[in-house]
Amino acid sequence: MTESTRKRTTKAASIEAEIAELRRELAEHDYRYYVRSEPTISDVEYDGMLRRLRDLETERPDLVTPDSPTQRVSGQIAEGFEEYRHARPMLSLDNSYSIEDLRDWAARCEKLAEGRAFDYVAELKIDGLSMSLIYAEGTLQRAVTRGDGVRGEVVTSNARTIRSIPLALKDGGAQVDLSAVREIEVRGEVFLPRESFEKINRERAEAELATFANPRNAASGTMRMLDPRIVAERNLDIFCYQLLFDGAPALPSHFDSLAWMTAHGFKVNPHYRHCPTIDDVIAFCDAWGEKRDGLNYEIDGVVVKVNQVAIQDELGSTAKSPRWAIAYKFPARQVSTQLLDVLYQVGRTGAVTPVAVLDPVLLAGTTVARASLHNADEMMRLGVRRGDFVFIEKSGEIIPQVIKVIVERRTGDETEFTFPSRCPVCETSLVKPEDEAVTRCPNPDCPAKLRAGLLHFSGRRAMRIDGLGEALVEQLTSPRIERDDRAEPLPPLVADIADLYDLPGKRDELIALDRMGAKSADNLLSQIESSRQAGMARLLYGLGIRHVGERTAVILARHFSSMEKLAAASREELARVFEVGEVVAASIADWFAEKRNRDLLARLASAGVKMDLPETDGPPVQRVFEGKTFVLTGTLPTMKRDEAKEFIESRGGRVSSSVSRKTDFVVAGDDAGSKLTKAQELNLQILTEDDLRLLGG
Ligand code: IVH
Repeated sequence: MTESTRKRTTKAASIEAEIAELRRELAEHDYRYYVRSEPTISDVEYDGMLRRLRDLETERPDLVTPDSPTQRVSGQIAEGFEEYRHARPMLSLDNSYSIEDLRDWAARCEKLAEGRAFDYVAELKIDGLSMSLIYAEGTLQRAVTRGDGVRGEVVTSNARTIRSIPLALKDGGAQVDLSAVREIEVRGEVFLPRESFEKINRERAEAELATFANPRNAASGTMRMLDPRIVAERNLDIFCYQLLFDGAPALPSHFDSLAWMTAHGFKVNPHYRHCPTIDDVIAFCDAWGEKRDGLNYEIDGVVVKVNQVAIQDELGSTAKSPRWAIAYKFPARQVSTQLLDVLYQVGRTGAVTPVAVLDPVLLAGTTVARASLHNADEMMRLGVRRGDFVFIEKSGEIIPQVIKVIVERRTGDETEFTFPSRCPVCETSLVKPEDEAVTRCPNPDCPAKLRAGLLHFSGRRAMRIDGLGEALVEQLTSPRIERDDRAEPLPPLVADIADLYDLPGKRDELIALDRMGAKSADNLLSQIESSRQAGMARLLYGLGIRHVGERTAVILARHFSSMEKLAAASREELARVFEVGEVVAASIADWFAEKRNRDLLARLASAGVKMDLPETDGPPVQRVFEGKTFVLTGTLPTMKRDEAKEFIESRGGRVSSSVSRKTDFVVAGDDAGSKLTKAQELNLQILTEDDLRLLGG
């Protein structure tokens, strides 16, 4: 061997060794971060290691393996999903809705066990979608959805983006001999944490895309997306609950399976309990019925399983579900009421949302008279008719929604709805793109869009023209009939956003409006006046450009510092801005490409609306809450929720929707519920609004 070949071989060998070491370490850190939530290095250190691994793999593409941490997110868009037959059917569970049902089930199990001793394991029933993960030779081969229980769809590329799913089994010690095992199958529930669900829906609502009805729908919709890069951004997670070796229960007890999965790097929900008797199971169900709101994911009950596999085999299964397990469903937080009508609301981007008008009913402490029906597809799925009795539900902080029609209560007098084909406001033919759930009014001059656009523009998070509410917007945008009743109505005072800034010159016309006195007119005018100083970020958000939410607006304003520079930026330049992706860049570029939008901005500018960053007025707010996490609960004496959030965020803090050990402060007002209880249990610091103001300075 010459000196140079030897050097090359050693270098090659050391690259291989370094790659192997980096992969091992990165997988371990993924495990610590995503499975155990106990990171031991900083994000910066992690990113450095990942970058080094990427560089080495670029140098040696022949060494890239599918289980490398660099290979989680594939850039390849799928054309569809293949079918796959499960080695053992993925059964569903029988439901029980009462403690008596549970006792009956336990009594049946005892009878069938014929005197042999057994016990139970109780687990949380995660509200997501079930997934089968198949490993061979230690690495993930396939991820399959439940499908109809017999055949599912292969969604491996999407599942790989879930960071708590190990791409390779972790070395869990050699207690179990795996030498004869070909395939290891781990089943679990993929779910979307509440916070991620709320974030996705907030962003979708801002972009006027159809929102998801609940985290489960969002998770299953995400799992069936064709582009794994989008799936990767959604923050899906998994809890694993079943282990099979070559299609059969692997170990003598379910408890052993949970321990095996935990030892091999799978995320198992920590709140399971080994229950010697059914009374212990019942205590567990009662406790979690109370505590469920404190979790950062949704559960809809408890799953109770006979622990011993020998007894499970004895009890067997029906075609639908095993006899050895049962789901105890929590009492629903639903009420029934009559659906009187459906209204169709047209939003800022023309999205038409059906809203159910209900016979008012009390639900979770508030009277509910309206509920969302989301979109045309959802209305069809529910099959609602005028006069139907329906179940409505309020989950978390989400607006009430219609869950289901009570078909049994139909009398025959109900009448069907047809989704309108024309805009209910301007009568333009509606459009519904094939791949979207939303139906839209395409008319750029639709008065409903203008009204929703004005409300958005004047909102608290945009230009803050407080006096401009729904009723006034309606008046300002409607033709005016003069009090002396002349035949011809006058044109509306406001036909676009920029017209607001002409109102100061039309004080008399304003006062002439119904229910508008000099005082309220002047009040409105002074608010319009001061909104000129809102600055670029608020203005940009207020313009309602698709995909430009509050945060994106701030990022863009900081980056470009003036509207003029932003308007001049190319799509590529925009996409290069940190956190602004292709879709957002395209939407902004398209907006500025339209003459009517550029004209609008020019008119706003000549009306004195500030087009760049605001000068900081008053003393700068100190970032006293930097790195601290807050949870708000209950009604505060003076601050609205949005205001408290802004107060905290402007001082560097973060507001989260659920209480955990990582929460630093819980700000509690009147009627604080389970979040406060949880905070007390965890011994967290609880603040009043006054405390918050005092700390914030
Ligand atoms: S065990 C044969 N355990 O609930 C037993 N299922 O309604 C199979 N689920 O299809 C399921 N959490 O998608 C089990 N801890 C848990 C669960 C769980 C949620 C889901 C699962 C199943 C559905 C049945």
